[in-house]
Amino acid sequence: MSRNAIVTGGTRGIGKAISVGLKKAGYQVAANYAGNEEAAAQFADETGIPVFKWDVANYEACDAAIQEIESKHGATDILVNNAGVTRDVPFHKMSLDHWRTVMSIDLDSAFNMTRPVINGMRERGFGRIVNISSINGQKGQFGQANYSAAKAGLIGFTRALAQETARKGITVNAVAPGYIGTDMVNALDDKVLASIVGQIPVGRLGTPEEIADCVNFLVSDQCGFITGSVLTANGGQYIAA
Ligand code: CAA
Repeated sequence: MSRNAIVTGGTRGIGKAISVGLKKAGYQVAANYAGNEEAAAQFADETGIPVFKWDVANYEACDAAIQEIESKHGATDILVNNAGVTRDVPFHKMSLDHWRTVMSIDLDSAFNMTRPVINGMRERGFGRIVNISSINGQKGQFGQANYSAAKAGLIGFTRALAQETARKGITVNAVAPGYIGTDMVNALDDKVLASIVGQIPVGRLGTPEEIADCVNFLVSDQCGFITGSVLTANGGQYIAA
């Protein structure tokens, strides 16, 4: 049976690899994007995966987009809450806008996307929700009080919702990537990036495909007993309990 998946931030970086990985595994995928039209058009051409533009920070926009996707593809079986941004700056220089932008896109989005699909998943007795957290939600990161808080919040959300939905055939898990070779990481200052790579025991950045493989594992039908977990994929940079 082909299951339907929605991936937020699904046309670039880690999200792109997740969308492509899910399609390869046989799922019908809808990829969300927020603003980069060129990247989204290229992604759609390259992959044949349909793209949908809306702002995951806006609840009404999420609700409307999910209704549109479901009218085309059918009910949502798999939701990957991947969209995220950074506004890195030490906290004593952080503006309210830096804080709110990251909290609304990286954390509020999990509510905005999950709330409209959860009742359908409960009624059908099946669902797979994967929240893309971060190593920096686990350990904290200098310059990322906003991002670390939002990504840690996703872990709390994962653990609470996993308990609420366990009897309904729905699993809720998080993946906590380390530093992956995407635009977000490559935008770091060269010296900062070199020092980060020096802290990764495997000696390199991760690839988006390595994170996509984690997601494919967690959404599979065989993973019904894994819920509330945080799968870390960080090259050994931070080994959490
Ligand atoms: N720990 C302790 N002190 C640090 C530090 C660290 N990690 N990094 C910098 N400092 C110190 C500096 O040595 C400096 O000290 P002095 O004033 O005594 O010289 C002081 O803090 C100020 O440092 P900067 O000049 O670098 O401050 P800045 O305002 O120019 O830049 C920053 C701050 C932009 C946050 C920069 O430090 C930075 O880019 N850090 C990396 C943040 C990071 O890792 N982001 C991850 C992005 S990728 C991602 O988020 C994906 C994912 O999930 C992993």
